Amino acid sequence: MKTSAIAAMGALAAGVSATPSMAPQQKRADITPVTVKGNAFFQGDKRFYIRGVDYQPGGSSKASDPIADADSCKRDVEKFKALGLNTIRVYTVDNSKDHDACMGYLADAGIYLALDVNSPNYSINRAKPARSYNKAYLQSVFATIDAFEKYDNTLLFFSGNEVINDDKSSECAPYVKATDRDMRSYINARKYRKIPVGYSAADVAENRLEMANYMNCGPDGARSDFFAFNDYAWCDPDKTSSDWEQKAKNFSSYSIPLFLSEYGCNKNTRTFNAVSGLYGDSMASVYSGGLVYEYSEEGSDYGLVKIDDGKVTEKDDFAALKKALAGTPSPSGDGGYKSSGEASKCPTKSDHWNVDLKDDELPAQPDGVKDFFDNGAGKAPGLTGGSQDSGSDKVETAGAADGAVTTGASTTSSGASASGSGSAAAGSLKAPSFAAAPLVASMVVVASTLFGASML
Ligand SMILES: *[C@@H]1O[C@H](CO)[C@@H](O)[C@H](O)[C@H]1NC(C)=O
Ligand SMILES: *[C@@H]1O[C@H](CO)[C@@H](O)[C@H](O)[C@H]1NC(C)=O
Repeated sequence: MKTSAIAAMGALAAGVSATPSMAPQQKRADITPVTVKGNAFFQGDKRFYIRGVDYQPGGSSKASDPIADADSCKRDVEKFKALGLNTIRVYTVDNSKDHDACMGYLADAGIYLALDVNSPNYSINRAKPARSYNKAYLQSVFATIDAFEKYDNTLLFFSGNEVINDDKSSECAPYVKATDRDMRSYINARKYRKIPVGYSAADVAENRLEMANYMNCGPDGARSDFFAFNDYAWCDPDKTSSDWEQKAKNFSSYSIPLFLSEYGCNKNTRTFNAVSGLYGDSMASVYSGGLVYEYSEEGSDYGLVKIDDGKVTEKDDFAALKKALAGTPSPSGDGGYKSSGEASKCPTKSDHWNVDLKDDELPAQPDGVKDFFDNGAGKAPGLTGGSQDSGSDKVETAGAADGAVTTGASTTSSGASASGSGSAAAGSLKAPSFAAAPLVASMVVVASTLFGASML
């Protein structure tokens, strides 16, 4: 990047904390904010299973915000209702835009938002993780939190998406975890509702368990509130999946909520048999549901609908998913969740895990970030500009929870307290996984940037 651009970003970062904004809470009597208890999500005292789809019409190459447009949102909410969803995931939003209308339509339909806080130019870059973890980056992340914390149907924030996609890129994990920590700290410092923060991992078998354990190990102030991963292993017409059964066993002692951030193999005609497995009694003690990839057809044959000139046409997959969800109620009672559990053990360095730091070390918070904790993130940068080159290739390490703010966020009146991970937890960065073909293990290609990689 040219030095002039870096200077411009410096100016941006310097100007941001001048106008802290505390928008009024948009409380709705009909929406109960979701909280974390042990290894599960709760809606008041009722266990909450994510029954959702991934939503990013326009797909990978455009950095655009699908929920800033009230009309297309209203149109698609009708489809979400028909599918019987309670959650959508959005990969990229413009944090300078207004989302009141769309968040209202979603709330009217009882639908929550799982939101990625990164965007193509404001994200951790896999090729230069240290440089891209910086103040301008966190300002954008925090501005996204500011834009969405006020909605009771904001379910959770993804701190990072598919940043690690092979053995080598696991070296980015500390930056992901530092971002995750900083997000939780920001929420606490601003006394926002305790909106859960966690990472969404690519479907990479080699270090899936390592990454899950990494985000839930070390000091409480640096542990995530939940963990999610993408999983395309259960393909129709199989009625069961030994792979999914084995994963559920492997994760049986995991102590924070776990769910699938993308699923829905498309190798054969989709009947979504995986739905009955995911919400079945045997997986409910470990998993809290998942998100089907993906709502709109973007050229890789994963879409449930086609959108042409603003008109939505249902594909056969739409009816198939609707039928599968309708035939599969979530488990009754608490699903056998664990109300408390131990932190995970940090993974050790190996061929698949390229992290050198000690269990209690993470990249230190960039200078100036505390200003945001004290005064808010200020003016949102939107999707223009960028932060990936605003930092330095040399980042200091510090105690993993140094600078973490672990108290302050409000819990809700609904009873369940955010716990599971202790008080505050770690976070991470998200690399927008713009809705291109999902990154399945067999398709992993090392690309030079997160964005590049996610646009495969
Ligand atoms: C379960 O864990 C074992 C031991 O770590 C590992 O070899 C195996 O690949 C895992 N299975 C799945 C399906 O993740
Ligand atoms: C994103 O960053 C690239 C590379 O610095 C730049 O060319 C592009 O204009 C940026 N995008 C936007 C929307 O500002």
